[in-house]
Amino acid sequence: MAKEKYLVTSALPYANGDLHIGHLAGAYLPADIFVRFQKLLGNDVIYICGTDEHGTPISIKADQKKVPPRKIVDKYHRRIKSVFEGLNFCFDNFSGTARPVHYKISQELFTNLLKNGYITTHTNNQLYCPNCKRFLPDRYVEGECPFCHSIEARGDQCDACGKLIDAIQLINPICITCGNPPVIRETTNWFLNLPKFSDKLEKWIESKTEWKDNVKKFILGWLKSGLKERAITRDLDWGVPVPLENAKGKVIYVWFEAPIGYISSTIEWAERIGQPEKWKDYWFDKNTKLIHFIGKDNIPFHTIIWPAVLMGQDDDYILPYDVPANEFLNLEGRRISTSRNWAVWVNDYLEDFPADPLRYYLAANAPENKDCDFVWKEFQEKYNTDLANILGNFANRVFKFSKIYFDGKICIPSTFSNLSNETWITAHNFAATQAKGFYQNYKVRKAIKRIIDIAREGNRYFDITKPWVEIKQDKKKAEETIFICLELLRMISIVLSPVIPESMKKLRKMMNLPDKMLWENIKYEFREKIVLGKIETLFEKIQDEIIEKQIKKLKGASNIPEKSKKLIDFEIFQKLDLRIAKILSAEKVKNSDKLLKCQISVGNKTKQIVAGIAENYSPEELIGKKILIVDNLKPIVIRGEKSEGMLLTAEYNEELTLLVPESDIQDGSKVL
Ligand code: MF3
Ligand code: ZN
Repeated sequence: MAKEKYLVTSALPYANGDLHIGHLAGAYLPADIFVRFQKLLGNDVIYICGTDEHGTPISIKADQKKVPPRKIVDKYHRRIKSVFEGLNFCFDNFSGTARPVHYKISQELFTNLLKNGYITTHTNNQLYCPNCKRFLPDRYVEGECPFCHSIEARGDQCDACGKLIDAIQLINPICITCGNPPVIRETTNWFLNLPKFSDKLEKWIESKTEWKDNVKKFILGWLKSGLKERAITRDLDWGVPVPLENAKGKVIYVWFEAPIGYISSTIEWAERIGQPEKWKDYWFDKNTKLIHFIGKDNIPFHTIIWPAVLMGQDDDYILPYDVPANEFLNLEGRRISTSRNWAVWVNDYLEDFPADPLRYYLAANAPENKDCDFVWKEFQEKYNTDLANILGNFANRVFKFSKIYFDGKICIPSTFSNLSNETWITAHNFAATQAKGFYQNYKVRKAIKRIIDIAREGNRYFDITKPWVEIKQDKKKAEETIFICLELLRMISIVLSPVIPESMKKLRKMMNLPDKMLWENIKYEFREKIVLGKIETLFEKIQDEIIEKQIKKLKGASNIPEKSKKLIDFEIFQKLDLRIAKILSAEKVKNSDKLLKCQISVGNKTKQIVAGIAENYSPEELIGKKILIVDNLKPIVIRGEKSEGMLLTAEYNEELTLLVPESDIQDGSKVL
């Protein structure tokens, strides 16, 4: 069969934060599994990604931390890359969009669209913050959504209804930096003339009969309501400069240039492998299937704007062949939220577990067609049941039997019973046909089910044939049973490898099979006789303690407003003695980056409080400040220092602030 050619990408993660399980389930793990599957089939496939290093989320974070954006970007690029390595992702190249190669190609594509008449300029009104003295593009401004009236909409998009927004449409906009309402001011920007692409886009999308329903519905809805010109430049200093003389102080809009990162990362790859022209073999070859794995919030950018950018070029770029978008993953019944720290961070996960349990659970519970829920207890149960009990137990009993009765050496039988034949054929069908079809159509959940069914079949076959009885009557019969079981394990080691590569490598090693394999080996891998290697436990059960630790960690670190909040009686509240206090002096607690010890005066007494505010306040700036404290807490000792109360703070988005009285009131005053 002729080789197929694939160029697979995962949405470029923003280099402004760490990866959590929701990211993985959406755009990353499904892509890695698909790529590994295509590599097994022997197809020509490259897997391209990198970090998305521009956009207002990044410049805002840099502003807040008072560091240059590049510092943030470099830090998160490193962290994200190392997490992907920890999870055994098989990218062919992992780049970033703040590199010269990306600037160059982005500017080229922009210039070419301009030359071809697809870009126009408009002078129009934008929001401007007089206090911060700058325009407020995209996420620099928040307000009420003009469509669904959620009050947390941003200047580019509303998370509640998913609609794209022009910042100027926001109701009651607020500058997120200083909290003031912006004014309207004129500026000139460059616009992509999307209406010019309407017909072409519609035809193109209509031809995509195989696309997932959720994706198609979304785009056709968009096209129906009519495309509008979209601004593709911004008044910002961090980004790809607009390559024009009269565009000082303007950069290309991040959503225009980020997908171009797929091209620049491919160029980087080609250069790295010493064949600098090779990227063209993919991007300009009509036979390449370009597949973008994304989360559903990225659909409009990948199916309208990005294809339009490609259509408007002189060069014959290929268009996306498919854009499999997943739904969202929730966590323990709530929407994942980074600002509320309701998330499982992959770095944290990797400190306690290997990659495969997470890969397995996220794939078996993937939000392919509807939103799904990540539940720690289910994670444990799914892994323990499917892998430790069903597959692990099957491998274990077969290997043990082989070692005890055959010294780990199994000859290939010359005849087979009907039951043996049927079992082999069923397993082969599950693996070679069914799992294959499912993988090819991004139905990984179903593929996994079928594969675990092979192990189930194996266990049943083992129970029916009873090799422990056969061995006493006819050693050849027992050998036949074990041979069939080993064949099933061999098939599984191939077809489950896209999901849990490490464990399947281990399984193959125990059977002395090479790491490298192909899908076609499901049928046959030549061996004169099977000689097993060293046998180990394939899947260690995940214990309750470690799961409880994760649940505690999640709940302890989050600041979710509890829906089912426990209500307390007023008398309980009255027991709290809240007072105004004045900070007399403060100093760092030895060997701690976070703790300060403060001497405070509360009316006519002074006391010491240890507080975790050292990362937000320096001792000097605290002196003389009036604050709120809980005055009647039982004293405790923290890091060898006595603490006789607690000062009150509020925290949001990793920023912490002290609560202070609105006017300069006498310390010792009671808070009512
Ligand atoms: N950084 C974007 C996000 O995380 C995704 C960008 S995908 C790209 O939502 F193709 F545009 F790069
Ligand atoms: Zn402002």
